[in-house]
Amino acid sequence: MSIAYELKNAKRAVAFTGAGISAESGLGTFRGRDGLWSKYDPAAVASIESFTRDPRKFWQFAREIGWIFLTAKPNPAHIALAELEAMKLLDSVITQNVDGLHQRAGSKHVIEIHGNAGRIICTRCKTEYTTEKIVARMAQEDVPTCDRCGGSLKPDVILFGEPLPKKAFDLALRKMKSTDLLLAAGTSLEVYPAASLPEIAKKNGAKIVSIDSERTSWDDLCDYKMNGPAGEILPSIVQAIKITF
Ligand code: APR
Repeated sequence: MSIAYELKNAKRAVAFTGAGISAESGLGTFRGRDGLWSKYDPAAVASIESFTRDPRKFWQFAREIGWIFLTAKPNPAHIALAELEAMKLLDSVITQNVDGLHQRAGSKHVIEIHGNAGRIICTRCKTEYTTEKIVARMAQEDVPTCDRCGGSLKPDVILFGEPLPKKAFDLALRKMKSTDLLLAAGTSLEVYPAASLPEIAKKNGAKIVSIDSERTSWDDLCDYKMNGPAGEILPSIVQAIKITF
């Protein structure tokens, strides 16, 4: 059987994506040789404990890695998933990414389980800001503060040690319990509780497709392993469906 055939015959196919799917948009991944966490200690710059103790470290890290995602463009992998959704062959995309590129590629049903860096929230009064507005102020302020209450601002992303957004995670869980085909693309599947989602899908009998440029811990657990760049593999699957079916 081919993945194109599986997608064509699945009742409810779901995609589960990670940083690797945005790598071809110029966004770094976290793990692996040149991953962000080989340059920064995540506990020091990206944990809620360190943010609460001293948010300056997070904001300095944010300045250094830059707001590249504000200018990044969706790549053919994002576009292929949006096409599969439009062809009614993909129910939804569950993503660990905070870059908003799935939505910008046209995907309508995107579940963000680690939040979205395009929104910035006051940690005290919950006032919401757009990232564009705050980025402009970051040159002057070590830690951007709220216009209303003076509280520290924080992007609406999940830092290590923070609980995942309940509504999004509950919906993702429901999708995992009802999917019969899971496309896991560009994720090392090492970070929990996110990585428990494919396990739940597998336990519920779903077939698992893993698309990754490297080996992952799921290579022996998945039904299909496609080695290579998601930006090449996903469009080729869409093409195969268009030609064959
Ligand atoms: N195409 C397909 N896969 C790729 C590509 C590519 N072009 N480039 C890299 N990869 C793969 C890597 O081989 C790796 O398996 O993408 C995966 C990225 O893994 P991680 O860097 O661990 O990213 P992710 O799985 O999304 O991390 C999960 O950890 O740091 C936290 O909150 C952060 O959401 C993130 C979570």
